[in-house]
Amino acid sequence: MELLDTKIIGNSLAVRKKLEFIRKVANSNKNVLILGETGTGKDLAARKLHEESNRRDKPFVAINCANIPVELFEAELFGYARGAFTGAVKEKPGLLEVAQNGTIFLDEIGDLSLYLQAKILRMIEEKKVRRVGETIMRKIYARFIFATNKFLEEEVIKGKFRKDLYYRISVVKFYIPPLKERKEDIPLLVRHILEREVSQSQQKKEISPYAIKKLMKYDFPGNIRELENVIERACILTDGEIIRENDIDLDFEQEATRKTSRISPEFLRETLEKCRWNKTKAAMEIGKSRRQFYRLLEKYQMDDCIK
Ligand SMILES: Nc1ncnc2c1ncn2[C@@H]1O[C@H](COP(=O)(O)OP(=O)(O)O)[C@@H](O)[C@H]1O
Ligand SMILES: [Mg+2]
Repeated sequence: MELLDTKIIGNSLAVRKKLEFIRKVANSNKNVLILGETGTGKDLAARKLHEESNRRDKPFVAINCANIPVELFEAELFGYARGAFTGAVKEKPGLLEVAQNGTIFLDEIGDLSLYLQAKILRMIEEKKVRRVGETIMRKIYARFIFATNKFLEEEVIKGKFRKDLYYRISVVKFYIPPLKERKEDIPLLVRHILEREVSQSQQKKEISPYAIKKLMKYDFPGNIRELENVIERACILTDGEIIRENDIDLDFEQEATRKTSRISPEFLRETLEKCRWNKTKAAMEIGKSRRQFYRLLEKYQMDDCIK
């Protein structure tokens, strides 16, 4: 089996706090909730947490909750008895049982249907599972980590996420900020990604200071995953040893400059009016997160709009 690299790179306050958090909670059995945009390193943090814990020699089972049909999800997670449904020719333990004493990582928990949320809630409250088609309950000893890129509080308000489940899983939570809020990590990350590329391709590559500068100016909507893609692409497309500014091809560069150039206080106000002062909607309208939107309002001192 391929050993996954769980090194967490970065020297920003956010990364240092993340590492400290992981160290502190690794050996507790508490549920942990990891929040953050796509590509910020939630998976990585979950794996690191497992590795830092005394469960490291036990299984780490990752389950993506998004877009799984209900029946499949139940069969996979809880297992089934022989003959429980057509095709169940043999009994099968679910992933929750397989993870015995290890860590269960339920990714994209915010995308789980309300029906499955109820099942998951019961399972983490009782720490027991019942295989499909069986009546006996089996104890599970695994530790749970959850992750989502959604604002769960908003989902609760919208009625899309159960409040009781939210309280259950959010006792110990931490948020990984987007890369654009910790750009000082970019040079370190680039070096790390380049080292990996070089060891895989055996071709020496370096990056010029101007190329780094260009990266530092960009917002990386896809966060670290996007940075990885950009560097990998640059490695392939650069003939020489040195990756220069022009070798860096950014995915949403034009869109990003277009968007920032048209945002003025007047434009913000107009958008808010159009969205009947619903800030979440207005933020979406101009392609910003709620936080970014608030920051713009603060920047222009539009206090009357913030309330
Ligand atoms: N701090 C970090 N140091 C090194 N690599 C990172 C870091 N954060 C994220 N990555 C890498 O970026 C990619 C995306 O991270 P991932 O954990 O899959 O994000 P998410 O689950 O939040 O979408 C992965 O290849 C991961 O290894
Ligand atoms: Mg992920």
